[in-house]
Amino acid sequence: MISVSNLKKSYDSIQALKGISFQIEKGEFFGLLGPNGAGKTTTISILSTIVEPSEGTVSIAGFDLKKNPAECKKTIGVVPQEIALYNELSAYDNLLFWGGLYGVPSAELKTRSEEILKLFGLYDRRNDKVKTYSGGMKRRINIASALLHKPVVLFMDEPTVGIDPQSRNLIFEVVEKLHKEGMTIVYTTHYMEEAERFCDRIGIIDDGRIIAQGSLEELKKSCQMKETIVVSFVLLSDTIFDQIVSEWKDLKRIENSIHFYSSNVKSDLAKIIIRCSETGLDIVHIDIQKVNLETIFLSLTGKQLRD
Ligand SMILES: Nc1ncnc2c1ncn2[C@@H]1O[C@H](COP(=O)(O)OP(=O)(O)O)[C@@H](O)[C@H]1O
Ligand SMILES: [Mg+2]
Repeated sequence: MISVSNLKKSYDSIQALKGISFQIEKGEFFGLLGPNGAGKTTTISILSTIVEPSEGTVSIAGFDLKKNPAECKKTIGVVPQEIALYNELSAYDNLLFWGGLYGVPSAELKTRSEEILKLFGLYDRRNDKVKTYSGGMKRRINIASALLHKPVVLFMDEPTVGIDPQSRNLIFEVVEKLHKEGMTIVYTTHYMEEAERFCDRIGIIDDGRIIAQGSLEELKKSCQMKETIVVSFVLLSDTIFDQIVSEWKDLKRIENSIHFYSSNVKSDLAKIIIRCSETGLDIVHIDIQKVNLETIFLSLTGKQLRD
């Protein structure tokens, strides 16, 4: 559905994108995960024809973005990072305005706007001016306005930053519903929980490059990261620790705890508990640290995802 090849973008001296490539299948939920300044918005802006790339090609639904921008635009709905709404207009009038821009015929636009206001839980407030809305409500209208022309592809650029939990949950529900109905979604975020929860595949972006991509399982495998079983003891003598070290390949001692690195937590956990009880060690705490996108990002870049 979407094919991006060797995309580059420079703003004067800043190279925002240094050669980005990815493919997205029809109906796929693709996440672009990366810290601030990684190049997520630049990528989305190019894909939605707002910004021209310095190099590289994009095709959407079989249309080349450069040769056929009008056809590409019909296919996509865009939820920009910065909310663009008319504060002096009501939510309903905002939708009529944006739907008109997308070329939705006026009779259809009215019913479509009403449907969508209901979907986003704002039908009762439809005639209130947007300036009276909370940030989360504005964000909901912002997303709603991208859906009026029934696009088959939806771009969402950090749609949950700085909004209340109620709006966030509603947005999650709508996004999951759209995905189930077969919409292709490109979703940027710096929250690894969101990427893990929704995305079929994830591209990890840092400093203008995609440094890894695949499903969560594929990313975990490609990083060859292991999960950690942290076992803390009342007391860990050197003699007993030496004994355990000789039996277990991959571990690290931190004071009275041992970090066991494991590729199979289920079977290793049982072994560890049995072995510790045989040696007379008193366990006070066990913690299992899973591999997640945060730890994968850390292992790939040496940086935290969040600043
Ligand atoms: N209009 C612009 N002019 C100059 N530099 C820009 C502009 N837009 C983005 N950049 C720079 O490009 C890089 C990528 O930015 P951006 O795509 O907004 O990242 P993200 O959305 O991942 O936070 C950053 O270093 C940013 O400062
Ligand atoms: Mg951004």
